[in-house]
Amino acid sequence: MIADNDLLLRVRDLKVHFPTADGLVKAVDGISFEIRRGQTLGVVGESGSGKSVSFLTIMGLITSRQAQISGEVIFKGRDLLTLPVEEMRHIRGKEMGMVFQDPMTSLHPMYRVGDQIAEAVLTHQETTKKAAAAMAVDMLGRVGISKPAESARRYPHEFSGGMRQRAMIAMSLVLNPDLLIADEPTTALDVTVQAQILDLIDRLKSEFNAAVAIITHDLGVVAEHCDDIQVMYAGRIVETGTNRDLFYRGRHPYTWGLLQSIPRLDAEESHRLHPIKGLPPSLIFVPPGCSFHPRCPYAFDRCRTEEPRLASPDGYHASACHLSDDDKERIFNEKVLNRT
Ligand SMILES: Nc1ncnc2c1ncn2[C@@H]1O[C@H](COP(=O)(O)OP(=O)(O)O)[C@@H](O)[C@H]1O
Ligand code: SF4
Ligand SMILES: [Mg+2]
Repeated sequence: MIADNDLLLRVRDLKVHFPTADGLVKAVDGISFEIRRGQTLGVVGESGSGKSVSFLTIMGLITSRQAQISGEVIFKGRDLLTLPVEEMRHIRGKEMGMVFQDPMTSLHPMYRVGDQIAEAVLTHQETTKKAAAAMAVDMLGRVGISKPAESARRYPHEFSGGMRQRAMIAMSLVLNPDLLIADEPTTALDVTVQAQILDLIDRLKSEFNAAVAIITHDLGVVAEHCDDIQVMYAGRIVETGTNRDLFYRGRHPYTWGLLQSIPRLDAEESHRLHPIKGLPPSLIFVPPGCSFHPRCPYAFDRCRTEEPRLASPDGYHASACHLSDDDKERIFNEKVLNRT
């Protein structure tokens, strides 16, 4: 058991709605979860399910100027949704680090990599330029960049994709944040480099005693790297539990679909992929009842009118689906565990 003083982030009923000319986009519609020190949380769902908007809002990068935001985001005891912009900027650099899919959104093409990392240090810490430059080189070494002193003098375009991602991780971690948020950190990388980056994040998490949230559309990516996983669909969490809960006792038809779309190396080519049929809904006109019902092979009458709540028979592992616990277990065992 992890003690409660390890609780870093507690999100309660967070809603982020964007008013647009076409209507109100309910990008995030009432999500609640917690992150503890030492934990790696995987946040999984197809593109457009509200993953990035949730965490951009948590980091204060989407504000009430762009969206109608409600709920609570308690980070180390303070509600971030009520903090002044200036204070939030400070927390964002120093206490929460971020890594995005495309490092070029965070790395400036015209500045040397080492200078950019040193600049991040100088913005948030009282120190000399020389000390900041030394921290940058040290950090580049720790993320596995060879010849760090020399590499620090290079420009981002002189790095490979994987090296740029390492540089961005170095920049996010140089101030020793409590929480690292990695949004599709490996999507643009090839499989071998993906694994290296995720291993690196794992190692650094322990070294820095931090927590990590890995956001991904690919459940396969987080399989080995997350303690807990929450599955998002249409702006809500539809299933949440430990890594083992999701992979060995998945209890939501959408999770089953994601599990079945993970390529299997041991299967025949023709049986490798079973993508979920249909498309995620528009977040302006979310289907009534269970928002997954138009795509769900198990939908019945109740699903079309009554919204399922996230409920847990065992206290932690929870799913939002009207099927009975017995049916969930039976279908999972038949269709997902024993699939050929
Ligand atoms: N600034 C915005 N204005 C209107 N809609 C937005 C805005 N930002 C994101 N959205 C919408 O919110 C939904 C969730 O987006 P996002 O969180 O980026 O999805 P994900 O990261 O899961 O792929 C999408 O339908 C997207 O089009
Ligand atoms: S509530 Fe109904 S439609 Fe929704 S996932 Fe469960 S069975 Fe499918
Ligand atoms: Mg995203």
